[in-house]
Amino acid sequence: MGYFFEELTTALRDYVRRETLLYFAQWLTYHYKNSKGEGPEIYLKREDPNHGSTYKINNAIAQAMIAKWMGWNSILAGTRAVQHEVVIATTFVKLSLDCTIFMQSTDMEKQASNVLLMKHLRAEVESIDGTFKDGSSEAIRALMGNLETKYYLAEKTVGLHPCPSMGGRLDILVACIGSGSNALGLFHEFINDEDVRLIGVEAAGFELNNVGVYHGVMSYLLQDEEGQILGPHSIGVGLKYPGVGPNVRFLKEIGRAEFHTTTSEEAVATYRQLCQLEGIFQALEASHALAFLEKLCPTLPNGTKVVVNLSSRRDKDATIVFQYQPDQLID
Ligand SMILES: Cc1ncc(COP(=O)(O)O)c(C=O)c1O
Repeated sequence: MGYFFEELTTALRDYVRRETLLYFAQWLTYHYKNSKGEGPEIYLKREDPNHGSTYKINNAIAQAMIAKWMGWNSILAGTRAVQHEVVIATTFVKLSLDCTIFMQSTDMEKQASNVLLMKHLRAEVESIDGTFKDGSSEAIRALMGNLETKYYLAEKTVGLHPCPSMGGRLDILVACIGSGSNALGLFHEFINDEDVRLIGVEAAGFELNNVGVYHGVMSYLLQDEEGQILGPHSIGVGLKYPGVGPNVRFLKEIGRAEFHTTTSEEAVATYRQLCQLEGIFQALEASHALAFLEKLCPTLPNGTKVVVNLSSRRDKDATIVFQYQPDQLID
């Protein structure tokens, strides 16, 4: 086991290029100062400088290594946000594994350049009918007939915590919530430190309050009265997953983390604001977390240290933001 962690640590350092630095967002901090010149200090936990520009690489590489150590060399995965699948495909190449990725056909058209990258990485991309959540369902279905030979790489809150630990004295941590993995990575080190406020931000309309079972997990789901999963819309495609991991449910039920929502419109405004104030591009998912600062900052004492997780950079979001019209339904 010691050798496994040595291999993982080396890959995270040399391939992923961890650790990423915490960045003091000087202009954002200035933006949120009140008329007396007081306000919180805002720090960004940047995941965009990583290989693949996303926090998801930690989970992908660790799970792929576990699969390899356990003797599987063929991996199945389903898409939620395509950047994740590109990153998975890079880790498979690094570990000499085969992979099949299930992806909704219309997404394949919309994300043709990412599909091309996956093909360069010699991943097999299977087109499926259905909606965004059906990629994972299809991968699990394919696994069921092949348990001896194939491994399903789940992209949700499983495996090693997706972002590396942070130390230091912080007061508030803020992350967006899709299934909860980037938030858990950020919160992990601080869960037992009751002085640190943990804040998860969901896309408005995605408040998950009904418990049910989906993709093998019992947790909060977005479902109708008959328990059928709903497939709603959000500008942050990675936030469209209709459930959260059980660990997020636990943090909510014991009252350790608080949860809020922000809208697509607020996320777009924040995306533009971060570009223009700090010169940083972020994914629209993370923009939901950043948008919550608008409500949070005026309530905080001077000098409060706030860290916001910038989960990824996604270049295609630049076009979406550019073309965005308020009240537009995004699929
Ligand atoms: C850039 C980005 N941020 C955040 C998320 C949200 O997912 P999670 O809550 O599992 O971190 C996703 C999901 O695909 C994503 O692509």
